[in-house]
Amino acid sequence: MSTAVTAATAVPPPEPSSGTLVPLVDLTLVRRHLLAGFLWLVGSMAAGLLVSLQFLGRYPIDFVEIFSPGRVRMVHTNLVAYGFLLNCLAGASYWVVPRLTGLPLPWPKLARINYWLMQLMGAALVVMLLGGMAQAVEWGETPVLLDPLVALVAVIFFLNIGACMFKIGRRPVYVTLWYFSAATIWTALTYLMGNYLPEFFVPGAAGGAIAGLYIHDLVGLFVTPLGWGAMYYFVPLLLKRPIYSHALSLIGFWGLAFFYPLQGVHHFLWSPIPMYAQYGAVVSTIAIEIVVTTVIVNFFLTLRGQMDQLRTNLPLRWFYTGMVLYFTTCLQCSIQVLLSVQKIIHFSDWVVGHAHLVMFGVFGFWIFGIMIHLWPKLTGRPWWSEKLNAWHYWLSTAGLVTMFLDLLVAGVMQGFQWRNLAPWESSVTASVPFWAIRTVSGIVIAAGQVCLIWNMWKSRGAKAHAPMVPFFTPADATRPGASSS
Ligand code: HEM
Repeated sequence: MSTAVTAATAVPPPEPSSGTLVPLVDLTLVRRHLLAGFLWLVGSMAAGLLVSLQFLGRYPIDFVEIFSPGRVRMVHTNLVAYGFLLNCLAGASYWVVPRLTGLPLPWPKLARINYWLMQLMGAALVVMLLGGMAQAVEWGETPVLLDPLVALVAVIFFLNIGACMFKIGRRPVYVTLWYFSAATIWTALTYLMGNYLPEFFVPGAAGGAIAGLYIHDLVGLFVTPLGWGAMYYFVPLLLKRPIYSHALSLIGFWGLAFFYPLQGVHHFLWSPIPMYAQYGAVVSTIAIEIVVTTVIVNFFLTLRGQMDQLRTNLPLRWFYTGMVLYFTTCLQCSIQVLLSVQKIIHFSDWVVGHAHLVMFGVFGFWIFGIMIHLWPKLTGRPWWSEKLNAWHYWLSTAGLVTMFLDLLVAGVMQGFQWRNLAPWESSVTASVPFWAIRTVSGIVIAAGQVCLIWNMWKSRGAKAHAPMVPFFTPADATRPGASSS
């Protein structure tokens, strides 16, 4: 086991440049981002529930054009990415990066302005998507007019955390910061590639291939590195022990960097894209499963002897549930990518189930764990109700697992009907019970989020805007274990 670089000892903190005490972490900023992320999640789920009613022929507002299901579907998916995940992961990064580098954000005011820009972006996104101004690129539907704002928000965010990370120079860097710094570069490239190349420069099947890379890389090279980076920070901290193997974490990081970018074409198997690109996507998708296994093994070996914590420590339970689901989703991926399996499940609800498993079951669950851990530190109050937090866990998990299994079976059924050339109506009729179960499981998930949001509200700080608290200054950071609280 390597203990070379741990979350607590990662970077020797810099010498204080002046005697001024500055708060290391901007608590208000972190809290606002987490809260905003959750509010966007609620909006996104409301849109998801509406769309699910369309599948049952019970869409309640089909007479209003701007709320037509196609547009509301885009609101659902885009708010998940640019509302929920972006805000919550930004909040988590603003907590983690200053603590690991020992440096506060260099431009705190800019970070606060960027917070409002991010919310403006979310609101404009909803209005423009409903207004029918979407860009015709899957997952890149953000209207062309809005793309520069998205890019600006991302650049300011990455400048702030990037400045902390790159200022520490050549000193040993903890694995969390490898992931975070890679995310800054990968995301910029991915966003530019997906939003501009297919639309303006590369038409046809080649554009489709690039859009496929974009869809997958947005998950794999933006959300995944920030998510895993956060896990490498929070899990050892909560377990109060270093990660089991530094070597395994190296393999995981470089494996992701090497194999992930090639996978995207697997969204378009059996399409006019050249077969060599499709075969490449199949091989790299299966390879990533091996890489993921090393990461999961590393985390479970870190847990050894402390399994009981999964029962008693709710944030850890969220983290490890997310990891099990991550392993499941990647295993599923390495099966569904086989060309023979694709023949059945392509275009079916199997894929939608897979998408919910990874976006909600993995990244959503990790964010919930972070939330449960951080909220009391951000408000200065303990959770109002542990029971409500437990309800949130069980309702979210039960709802998600039901939705996933339901759509998985629905997808196989649909695929076989299509292969057997059954009339289209027949597959639609047979799908209705599955879609009904999806709506019910969605309501269960939504009920879980209501528990959490009510609990957050009841546990809010005495003041709506609590003053920033200097957890420790750069000078304090020299205390052993200073960053482990
Ligand atoms: C209230 C619970 C939810 C319901 C009822 C719901 C419902 C839906 C529906 C009906 C679709 C469109 C499927 C289609 O066009 O065939 C969809 C797509 C999607 N949803 Fe949800 N959803 C819910 C929650 C979530 C959450 C919490 C997330 C992520 C954090 C999420 C992520 C996605 C993604 C990524 C897609 C796109 C799937 C694809 O294109 O393959 N959903 N959802």
